[in-house]
Amino acid sequence: PLTLKDAFKKDFYIGTALDLNQINEKNPKEDSLIRKEFNAITAENIMKSMYVHPQKDKYDFTLSDKFVAYGEKNKMFVHGHTLIWHSQLAPWMEKIADSTEMKAFMQDHITTVVSKYKGRIGSWDVVNEALNEDGTLRQSVFLKTLGEKYLVDAFKLAAKADPKAALYYNDYNIEEPAKRAGAIALIKKIKAEGGKVDGVGIQGHWRLGSPSIEEIEKSILEYSALGIKVAFTELDITVLPNPWDLKGADVNQKFEGSEKMNPYPKALPDSIQNKLAERYASIFKLFLKHKDKISRVTFWGVHDGQSWLNDWPIKGRTNYPLPFDAHLKHKKAYDSVLKLK
Ligand code: XIL
Repeated sequence: PLTLKDAFKKDFYIGTALDLNQINEKNPKEDSLIRKEFNAITAENIMKSMYVHPQKDKYDFTLSDKFVAYGEKNKMFVHGHTLIWHSQLAPWMEKIADSTEMKAFMQDHITTVVSKYKGRIGSWDVVNEALNEDGTLRQSVFLKTLGEKYLVDAFKLAAKADPKAALYYNDYNIEEPAKRAGAIALIKKIKAEGGKVDGVGIQGHWRLGSPSIEEIEKSILEYSALGIKVAFTELDITVLPNPWDLKGADVNQKFEGSEKMNPYPKALPDSIQNKLAERYASIFKLFLKHKDKISRVTFWGVHDGQSWLNDWPIKGRTNYPLPFDAHLKHKKAYDSVLKLK
């Protein structure tokens, strides 16, 4: 029988996110699943700035070296995540208060990290999540100290450090109209100012009912019209309600642990299992339709048991967002995607 990576071999890479346990090959069964099903990897956390650059004058590449070596050993496409992001920064970075210091940080960080893996990392998320939902620029330590210029600077520095790596702008909800318009304007501007942008990463932290296939399709078309590739970089589909979808809810106090927010703690009911399978099938059907525009589809995690959605946005929930369950068994969602081939 086919596996995911074999089924889509001629279409796009099929990736997964690896965190500490997987990088250390702690669980042989999980490890063999990863090798069988995926031909691309992203580090779920360990290449973020707080991990590789804990202090101003100290880098730590112990884990990222292991991660990249794992990809090479298994002939996988290795994606770098992420260089410039307002979140998971080391504390010392958050304290940077002026433009001179921030410029020096960006120059040092991007150059050091990208050069370190020059020729070994195929693509980078150069900037992650720079936009607000309305398409305006997010207030971050980067915007505050440097203004909009930090965006093009980041892309220029990355291109200089590894001219052959594909450079991506990565964000969530950028298939929604307002934020998408903001992302398109942003990418155009970076290119107009001399930055090299090769692709856009649509994270794809999606729900059963949204975004619509129509909006995803419009996004693929509009982004690729900019002359760039589209990647789906962090795909998962929550089956649980998001707190912000419930009006006026006081998330933590009112809903934590309640049935309303975690209606399927022990198992996923068949009806939802089927809905998830249908949802994944319609998404992959669309991806296949536009395979010439899509470089990679990466799931955010190997299986339900280690998905970040078990702890976010509410701690301790049980979620079922991926094609493999917590026992590493493939779900109906997996079958429905493979059936497309
Ligand atoms: C998440 C990881 O999955 C979690 O383990 C971590 O605690 C927080 O970050 N957008 C991104 C990813 O670009 O880096 C985030 O990953 C999920 C949202």
